[in-house]
Formats: sequence, structure tokens, C-alpha cells
Amino acid sequence: MKYQGLTIGVPKEILAGERRVSATPETVSQFVKGGAKVLVEAGAGLGAFFTDDAYRAAGATVLADVREVYEQADLIIKVKEPQFHEGLGVHETKLLRPGQVLITFLHPASPANHNMVKALAERGVVALTLDSIPRISRAQSMDALTSMSTVAGYKAVLMAASRIPKFLPLMGTAVGMIQPAQVLVIGTGVAGLQAIATAKRLGAVVYAADIRPDAREQAKSLGARLVELGIPDELAVGEGGYAKHLEPEWLEKEREALKPVVAGSDIVITSALVPGKEAPILITKEMVESMQPGSVIVDISIDQGGNCELSEGGVIKEHQGVTIDGTKNIPGTMPTSSTAMFSKNVFNFVDNLVAEGRVNLNLDDEIIRATLVTQDGKIVHEGTLESMRARGEI
Ligand code: NAI
Repeated sequence: MKYQGLTIGVPKEILAGERRVSATPETVSQFVKGGAKVLVEAGAGLGAFFTDDAYRAAGATVLADVREVYEQADLIIKVKEPQFHEGLGVHETKLLRPGQVLITFLHPASPANHNMVKALAERGVVALTLDSIPRISRAQSMDALTSMSTVAGYKAVLMAASRIPKFLPLMGTAVGMIQPAQVLVIGTGVAGLQAIATAKRLGAVVYAADIRPDAREQAKSLGARLVELGIPDELAVGEGGYAKHLEPEWLEKEREALKPVVAGSDIVITSALVPGKEAPILITKEMVESMQPGSVIVDISIDQGGNCELSEGGVIKEHQGVTIDGTKNIPGTMPTSSTAMFSKNVFNFVDNLVAEGRVNLNLDDEIIRATLVTQDGKIVHEGTLESMRARGEI
């Protein structure tokens, strides 16, 4: 059996407000059927409405003390990067041991996580990060970032829809026709496309803007009207088809093009990102002030700084009657669906990593090579090393 001899640990997430978990009873049962022993910390699934009994029924051993999970597991699967564990008074990096394998979202290139990554290397942990899964077809079923963007795009529209003071669809009523609301989606990658699809289902008139022609094409095929930004393709598209960082004069041009559409929108969803960079500011304070009171902006890019000049991480605020929603970790607000997707991504990732009951770090495998962050006491993740070098930390 593929997983015979392998022990997998599922700790409860400790980040404040984090309700997701890295395995569901369904994925636990898949591991167990393959011969693995699965240890789940008591209460790990409760935030996503999976009880300890459901994990037991799936074949897991539920342990009250997370230290035992860390001590016995060969492989730890988590949602969030290691944090300081208030309950135990110890950082989660210290619970891991040399040679133990950790799979989670580490966001290792982010400066805020550099010390944590160094601590993982010093402890000799083999850490693999799900945010570096290459965008190739073989890896699609493991792509947790895409899954979480899907959730974020969908939920962002619902958050905005429940806050605006009007209907989204065209309504024929006894007192006459009520016009549909206007939604603008800026940045139509995975999250933006899901936002368009959701807003369309709710009956809004949807506009979309992106600097990549492929993204615009996909937005159009979902029924969005395109905003012409006037950015030449060669400036917008970089290596691997991803968006490029635009020079300030081009960003200014883009904001000019967006201005009239922003002013006329009841809802603006922003999800414009450039890999490895801070999110570009596409909505200024002045543009917010041009919107009708009661309108809502949901800034999905907030973890990378946000696309709106006024948004603040973790804060929902009002500026001249316009709500600017900077909710962080939107997928965490839909823990059952996001956990269902995340846990399957993790299962598929582990399935690719394990052979004959052991973690096989086959560096000829592009997926493993790209996601490996620390090994044999060293940091081996190129993006992280670049970021550390740029800051003079190594
Ligand atoms: P992302 O989250 O990095 O960026 C979101 C969007 O923002 C992108 O479409 C980008 O063009 C846009 N953007 C950047 N700067 C902008 C600006 N100044 N103004 C307006 N828009 C701007 O991208 P995401 O969602 O991670 O994926 C991008 C693309 O990668 C997808 O559309 C898809 O084609 C591809 N992809 C492929 C996968 C696979 O083959 N396994 C999996 C996931 C995505």
C-alpha cells in the first residue's frame, strides 16, 4: 500500500480566526485506505464543522495534545505557516523536528516570514510550500492558491452584495422596472473571473478590466463588458504569461481609463496582482469620492497591500458613504468549502510526493523542486533567497 508506514499529522490551526483545516474526514479516509496512520489534534476540524468523531470514523486517531501529533508524525499538513502557539508558549517551528516534513502555505518570500523560514532551516525541517506550485496542467489538482482564489472571488461579491442598499438584478415590479446594479471587477485572474461569474449569476451588469489580453478574453466569455485600459500588451505581459509591473505613467493612464466606470459602479471588486510585487494602486481616494454613497469596494488584493489607496487590512470602513472592505483571509470565512478544496489539493500534493510509504524528494519533479523551501538545514527556495539577498539578510 502506498502510504504503509507513513504517519501524517493534522494540527488545529492557531492563527486567530482561522477556521480551515488541512484534512477532512474524506481525505483522512483516503490516506488511511492507502495504509497511512493519521493523527488529528482534537477539535482541529470544528471550525469547518468536522467533528472529532467524524475523523475517528474515517480512521484517524484523535489526540488531545498537539505535541504528540508533532512527535509522532513523519509529515505535518497545515493551512497556515507556523506561528507562535499561545497555548503552549512555544513557536510551532520548535514543535517540528529534524527531517520532519511540513506542507503548508509558507509564503516564504514575504519578508514577514523570513525569520520563520530561517528557523525551519535551522531545525532541519523539510518544508514545502503550496503557494509555489507551478501553474502547469499536471499540478492543477494540487493548486491550493487557485482553489482559495476561487473562494475569495465568489465570497467577495456576496459580501458586497449584502452591503449595498439596492437590488443587483433587473427587477420587474408592480411599481415599475428597477435597473440592475453595476459591478466592476479589476484584475480578472482566478479570483476576478469567479467574481464576474458570481455577479452575473446575481443579475448585475458586470464590467471587467485587466491588462492581459488572455484575462480579458476570459472575462468577456463570462459575459463581462470590457473596460479599454490602453496598456500595450508588450508592457503588460511578462514571463510565463503573467502580468508585469507597470511604470507609474502607465498606471496613471490605467486609472484615468477606470475613473468613469468606477464612478458609475455600485460594487468594485479588486484583485489585480503582479507576482512577487506589491499590488498596484488602481483606485485613488479621489476615485472613491467619485462613487455614489452606499457603494462598496472589496479589495481582495489586501494581503499584497491592496488595489485601493484607502483600504486597510482586516478593516471594513466607510469613506464619504462608500464602504471599503479590506477583510483578510476571505477563504477562511467559508471554511467548509475552502477546506474541502484545500484538503483535496493537499491530498493530491502528498500523493505526488510519497512513494512506498516514504516522502520521496524527487528533485527531477518540477512540482517538488518549485515548492521545496528548506532541506538539510538550508533554504533552497529561489524566490525566498532572492528576497533575503535583496534585503541584505544573507
Ligand atoms: P494573479 O492573482 O497574480 O493576478 C490577478 C490578475 O490581476 C491577473 O489576471 C493580472 O493580469 C491582473 N493584473 C495585474 N496587474 C494589473 C493591473 N495593473 N490592472 C489590471 N489587472 C492587473 O493571477 P492568478 O489569478 O493567480 O492567475 C493568473 C492566470 O494564471 C490565470 O488567469 C490563468 O490563466 C493562469 N493559471 C493557470 C493555472 C494552471 O494552469 N494550473 C492555475 C491558475 C492560474
